Amino acid sequence: MLNYLITWIHLIAVVILIGGLIFSQLVLTPAVRNAASDPTAQEVIRLSGQRFRTIAWASLITLILTGAYQLLNESGSARIETVWGVVLMLKLFLFVIAFGLILIHDFIMDPYAPASKPSLNVPASVPASSRANTVQKTILVLTLAILLVASYLSKT
Ligand code: HEM
Repeated sequence: MLNYLITWIHLIAVVILIGGLIFSQLVLTPAVRNAASDPTAQEVIRLSGQRFRTIAWASLITLILTGAYQLLNESGSARIETVWGVVLMLKLFLFVIAFGLILIHDFIMDPYAPASKPSLNVPASVPASSRANTVQKTILVLTLAILLVASYLSKT
């Protein structure tokens, strides 16, 4: 029973993280693209970005804890030494890259900082928000790749 519950929580964290990234990339960002000079639109992006950052980090911590629990459950099993175990390592490797990019996006680029605080020391010709958006796109692609690998794992 506990195992089902942990997998359920793991999946909820996946849904929240990937769902939020998809909403940001396919709904929010395109919706305000033509309102770059509108301070209200920019404030909505900033506040919703700050809010999603908190939710995304809660999801990441949940994923790590529930993933580690499932990993411990597998530690004695025979399949960990098969191709399944190698594919699991690939999943964790992709996660580490995604995690690093999220750290860079949220704490180094910091695109949701108040306008008065310069968010990144980049040339004026490359808007920080557009670079941060590219990084967020990459994070989305990586998390979708992790999902693909995870669906292979669950069927093997
Ligand atoms: C974006 C990040 C992640 C995504 C999208 C993801 C997705 C999934 C999905 C869809 C499952 C399948 C559940 C099932 O059908 O049994 C799963 C299971 C699992 N996940 Fe994750 N996960 C992520 C992060 C992690 C992390 C960080 C860890 C380890 C610390 C982890 C370890 C595991 C393990 C061990 C299983 C059980 C595999 C199995 O028995 O089939 N996951 N994950």
